[in-house]
Amino acid sequence: MLKIALVGVGGISGAHIPAWLAMGDVELAALCDIRPQQMEKYPNIRHYTDFDQMLEQEKPDILDICLPTFLHVEFALKALKRGIHVLCEKPLSLHEEEVAQVYDAAAQNNVKVMAAQVIRFWPEYVFLKDLCHSGHYGRLLSGSMSRLGAIPGKTWDNWMHDEKRSGLVPYDLHIHDLDFLVYALGTPKKATSYRAKRPDQDYLSVVYEYEDFFITADASWFASPYPFRMSFRFQFEEAIVAYEDEALTIYERNGKTQNVFSATSGCGNEAEYTLPKGNAFADEIRYFVDCVKQNKPVEQVTADSLETVIRLLSAI
Ligand SMILES: NC(=O)c1ccc[n+]([C@@H]2O[C@H](COP(=O)([O-])OP(=O)(O)OC[C@H]3O[C@@H](n4cnc5c(N)ncnc54)[C@H](O)[C@@H]3O)[C@@H](O)[C@H]2O)c1
Repeated sequence: MLKIALVGVGGISGAHIPAWLAMGDVELAALCDIRPQQMEKYPNIRHYTDFDQMLEQEKPDILDICLPTFLHVEFALKALKRGIHVLCEKPLSLHEEEVAQVYDAAAQNNVKVMAAQVIRFWPEYVFLKDLCHSGHYGRLLSGSMSRLGAIPGKTWDNWMHDEKRSGLVPYDLHIHDLDFLVYALGTPKKATSYRAKRPDQDYLSVVYEYEDFFITADASWFASPYPFRMSFRFQFEEAIVAYEDEALTIYERNGKTQNVFSATSGCGNEAEYTLPKGNAFADEIRYFVDCVKQNKPVEQVTADSLETVIRLLSAI
């Protein structure tokens, strides 16, 4: 049974902790947060407020880092140097050279590291990637991706609103779509970005040009309470594939509409494709655990692709 420790019991840990607890072949043994009250709702897991002490006493096999972005590298390096495998929330770092530093440390210490780029595991996006590669609906002509919402509420020490510590909309939010593009379609030839940035809001729109198609991507932290929504609409020669309002639909050129998946009604009954309701956070954690258990390379999230993403973001 692999022993797991998690550091940073804030917002996103609420997606990781239940996933760890639901797995039968690992033990989430310890949590660490400098605010003890954050851990109170998990009385059956040991609590630490000192990270070094947790590593020393628990000697976990895997560390899950759910800390604010600017702390990722420091904490990952500490664990990797002790021979602990590391799963780290995105972005691994705001700086390209630090991505390489973390991966080098993992290689030198013969352990694995994975940045938790959850969209690579999100069923609707996995489905889209497969369609882009299968050519089932002909060639891709264009795509649009969007990730819109209001400026996040208060995070610990307000770190999320501090550009040096979070990178704001490009590194915190838009990174999900860019990371998917690099993973699914490779490195774009050219990126042109537009940004409306104010102290209380940030909106970004980017056009990524590839050889035969282009993708537009929007991301926002609006000052108004705009509800969060993520979506895509990809135009193939023979169909439009759209993920909108949590429903994945294929509008075929021949007039047929396929309701592949809807969060409210589940799988479309007459659809050629069906997609089960997934939990991408659980799937990415499962994938990393399997890589560790079977000593397989973490091929789904490589250092090269992460470095490319951070390099492209630094130009925005
Ligand atoms: N994959 C996703 O969809 C997704 C969504 C949200 C956040 N994230 C990422 O998750 C990370 C955390 O974001 P969040 O929203 O959970 O932040 P948060 O501020 O809600 O939580 C961070 C926690 O870390 C704790 N902490 C701070 N310094 C510490 C230290 N030195 N030792 C131990 N604990 C410490 C804080 O007390 C807080 O509870 C970020 O990198 C963010 O980009 C990913």
